[in-house]
Amino acid sequence: MSPKVYLDALGTLVVLFISWAYLRKQQPPYPPAVGSMLPWIGSGLIFARDPFTFLDTCRKQYGHVFKLLLGGRRMIVVSSADAIAALLRDRHGTLDADVMHIALLRCVGAINHDTHRIHDILHHEIFPIIGRCFTRHSLSNISSQFSTRLRSQLDEAFSSHNQQSISLKGLVGRSLFEATSSAMLRPSFPISFYDDLLRLDSSIYSRLYKLPFFSHSSTWARHRLLDRLADYIEEIERDGAEGELMSGVLEVFKANKLGRSDKAGLMLVFIWGSHINPMNTTIWLLTYLLANREAMTKIREEVDQTIHSQFTSLDSLLAADPCVLDGPGFSLLDSAIRETMRLTVITTVVRRATCDTELKSEGRTIHISEGEHIMADVRAPHHDETTYPDAETFIYDRFVFRENSENASGQIPSSNQRAALTFFGWGSGKHICKGRHLAMYEVKLLVIILLHLYDMSLASGVLQNFPPKFKRRSLGVWHANEDVLVHLQRRHVSGTTTG
Ligand code: HEM
Repeated sequence: MSPKVYLDALGTLVVLFISWAYLRKQQPPYPPAVGSMLPWIGSGLIFARDPFTFLDTCRKQYGHVFKLLLGGRRMIVVSSADAIAALLRDRHGTLDADVMHIALLRCVGAINHDTHRIHDILHHEIFPIIGRCFTRHSLSNISSQFSTRLRSQLDEAFSSHNQQSISLKGLVGRSLFEATSSAMLRPSFPISFYDDLLRLDSSIYSRLYKLPFFSHSSTWARHRLLDRLADYIEEIERDGAEGELMSGVLEVFKANKLGRSDKAGLMLVFIWGSHINPMNTTIWLLTYLLANREAMTKIREEVDQTIHSQFTSLDSLLAADPCVLDGPGFSLLDSAIRETMRLTVITTVVRRATCDTELKSEGRTIHISEGEHIMADVRAPHHDETTYPDAETFIYDRFVFRENSENASGQIPSSNQRAALTFFGWGSGKHICKGRHLAMYEVKLLVIILLHLYDMSLASGVLQNFPPKFKRRSLGVWHANEDVLVHLQRRHVSGTTTG
């Protein structure tokens, strides 16, 4: 090669390299980083104050993928359906869910030492027991105890309210708590236990995000809960546990030689996690039904009709296998629960990359470095107008698919739309909610009993603040910023024993 040709080729290479470097500089970084003036803290303060408003603002400005610095932690936030699905699927097994679990062990269970070991026990030994005990078919082991207790709790609440208004949160929360704890843990806990659980719950958000709060009452509540649970565990260790759940859990405690406070802390995390989300979901469903008389009437008609045609009475439905509630006889109710979850589930799914890895979002590749955190904002696909037209409205039959029939908003979902109804209410993949069948059963049964036996209406004077707003500092499922007062009236129902 002559020196001239050689120099020409070299010159061309240099020009190409400079153009490439220039173009690269012009391309904005991906994911874009949300700016902040505060070193280390980054957007931590503004995020903790109102995470969802902040995430919405960032999404409008940066799109479905962006990067944040949150108190020293680098967090990539994804909100497109494909990236969330890939994050939950975790095909390469490189995304760990330990961050959120460890935070909850600390805030709820007051477990502040050896947290990684205790997290491993929770994740590898206790979650699988919960998963096994609450499959669709295993629910029949606890359903008769659960349904009898739920029915008697609702009857008791009605008899004691003396034609006065009654708190929806109290009615739902106490009834579900009594029924689940008597079915799962057997000896029931005093009412003060439930009140303490709510006191603790009211502080979890601030504890998690390290915000200042009046800690005195919730700290004492947690202290009493842990003490009561430690006594309960000692009792069943001595006398023997009834049921697969508690016998399995006791074996895990024994095999790992856990101390009194760790056992109580783990139990408290389980009780808190299994109660608060179903309670808030049921409260919102009933709130939406109170606000939408057509939905209430249609769902009650479905409940009455299915009870009469398939079971003859409520009593025989309560005695039947829980799987019967999954049949087409309750498809409107099923749809209304999913619709409620679509509007109210705000679970913050967080994962930590255990090595360098990648996710795809809308055709682009997100490179994630080892140690970086990724957060999925599931509200975005749940409120996407192309998937869910009129997305802010509660459409009780949105998830009912009859061939060529309209839903309550007059839309006929096309088969493509149906297939694309992205729903992350229970998560997905290996961390999918282990209590989802139990939660569906709880919510459904409570609504069936309530609508079949009672007429429920708003108490007088409630209208100006109804429906309540979402409490901006919520976890899991939106909490309501105010309780709703309702009035119950017994219906005349044939073939069902009255309480
Ligand atoms: C309406 C009620 C409920 C909702 C909306 C809900 C939602 C969720 C979601 C979205 C996840 C996935 C979190 C993630 O991927 O990081 C999850 C996980 C989990 N849920 Fe639920 N849940 C509910 C009720 C329950 C109940 C009643 C139980 C227990 C009986 C339960 C036990 C669990 C457990 C153990 C996990 C962790 C699974 C794992 O990481 O392997 N949940 N839940």
